[in-house]
Amino acid sequence: MSEKKFKIAGSILSADLINLERDVGEALECGVDVIHFDVMDYHFVPNLTFGPGFLKALKDKFPQAVFDVHLMVSPVTEDIVADYIKAGASWVSFHPEACIHVERMLTFIKDNGAKAGLALNPATAPQMLDYLWDKLDFVLVMTVNPGFGGQKVLPSCLKKVADVKCMAFEANANVFIEVDGGVKDSNIQHIAECGATVFVVGSAFFGADNKAKALEYLNKALEI
Ligand code: DX5
Ligand code: ZN
Repeated sequence: MSEKKFKIAGSILSADLINLERDVGEALECGVDVIHFDVMDYHFVPNLTFGPGFLKALKDKFPQAVFDVHLMVSPVTEDIVADYIKAGASWVSFHPEACIHVERMLTFIKDNGAKAGLALNPATAPQMLDYLWDKLDFVLVMTVNPGFGGQKVLPSCLKKVADVKCMAFEANANVFIEVDGGVKDSNIQHIAECGATVFVVGSAFFGADNKAKALEYLNKALEI
């Protein structure tokens, strides 16, 4: 079967944490393609979330699921990355501000068997990507300031999605663009037109009364 053109990554930050097993199970059953797992340290961002033990517990319950670990921690170290990959991460992204040797960290992620991504905050310029394409599997463009779900897309970040798409095309780079923050059924089509193919959806999915319907509307909007 050929790969889907667009993927929805459900962000468990907006799930019912006391019923996480139920919510992740429901998300996968509905057809969410990837589970987005936000790791926050109260330092890089003003919030605190899930350790690797948490990820392992989910991976043990849902071994087929693809876990997309977004590290919002500073500093990012090889130990942290290794712990999350061991726990079940298939994709790992981190922020360049949190790491002195970005190229080395991307290589480390790939050498340990996960897809490697660089996450760009709203005010982070994408130019460094031009020195990293061969080490990147994906670019995660933040469309909100990281830390919390339920925020609105910052319009300037959509231009960045288009810029990254253009840069990748010019460099002939084989990467996908993931967008994180404020994605919902009313803007997902526009974000796709800017060049993203993976969409992190937190509150617009886990916050919906009817998750299956919410996913259906998101997918419908992507039938471009
Ligand atoms: C924000 C996180 C996001 C968040 C998105 O720092 O990185 O993954 O869960 O949530 P929504 O979709 O509600 O903006
Ligand atoms: Zn995220």
